[in-house]
Amino acid sequence: MEKIVEKILKKKLFVLKSEIVKEFLEEKGEDISKLNGIEIFGGLGLNDRIFAESLKNFEIWEIENKLESDLIKNLPNADVKICDSIRILKNERQFVQKYDLILIDNPIGVFGDTLEYCEHFDVIKNIHKLIDKKAIIIFLVNKRPFFFKKFVKKNELWRKRRREFYGDLNIKDMSTKFLLNFYTELFNNMGFKIDFSKNIPRHYPHLDYLVYKISRKSNDEQILKNTDWISLSELMKKN
Ligand SMILES: C[S@@+](CC[C@H](N)C(=O)[O-])C[C@H]1O[C@@H](n2cnc3c(N)ncnc32)[C@H](O)[C@@H]1O
Repeated sequence: MEKIVEKILKKKLFVLKSEIVKEFLEEKGEDISKLNGIEIFGGLGLNDRIFAESLKNFEIWEIENKLESDLIKNLPNADVKICDSIRILKNERQFVQKYDLILIDNPIGVFGDTLEYCEHFDVIKNIHKLIDKKAIIIFLVNKRPFFFKKFVKKNELWRKRRREFYGDLNIKDMSTKFLLNFYTELFNNMGFKIDFSKNIPRHYPHLDYLVYKISRKSNDEQILKNTDWISLSELMKKN
């Protein structure tokens, strides 16, 4: 309890939440000391530190040159790379390096030079490029976005992007159950099955971590998924 109070007082509440994610993975029986990890939105690396310290290897990508020295200082064990992770993930067809644990700690709302990016929407559909057979993915979902009144244009764009991504539903207040189903479906459609998934509140009631462990489906599983009853009936007649 003392440790928690100390962290809250030092405004390290979010750091505490990433420690809860790590503890959850350990409870699930994951030996994270054997994993190769990456954070694709580095910032100062504060929420990532617990993973950089606990994993076998840790890489961290960040777009801002000026954050490089802080990142090296804050995460001395990590391999810091200054790059545009969204663009790299979109443009590269294959990555030689694959990761067992992927953190996506994107900025809130819309961002980028022309506000062209939004939340994790521009990276999640390319995230499979960083995965070999299986991986743990940790990302943030905004269940109840906080729209600051002064950001009129940003808010409008943000709402539009959320509607395009999640569909025409109440994007101002989404349930955890809906979100877990949504991403289960998304990863299934990308060719993965779900080993486990869990939400862990980061900033109640707005932001949750979603933690997914996903594994690539075998060819048989893919064929079964794509087989409909009409084509199957011909096959059955022959047997
Ligand atoms: C919420 S912060 C990350 C916080 C960080 N993970 C931590 O633990 O302190 C988001 C970061 O993503 C960076 N970023 C934004 N667009 C990016 C891009 N296209 N590629 C890489 N980093 C980007 C921002 O500069 C910002 O530092």
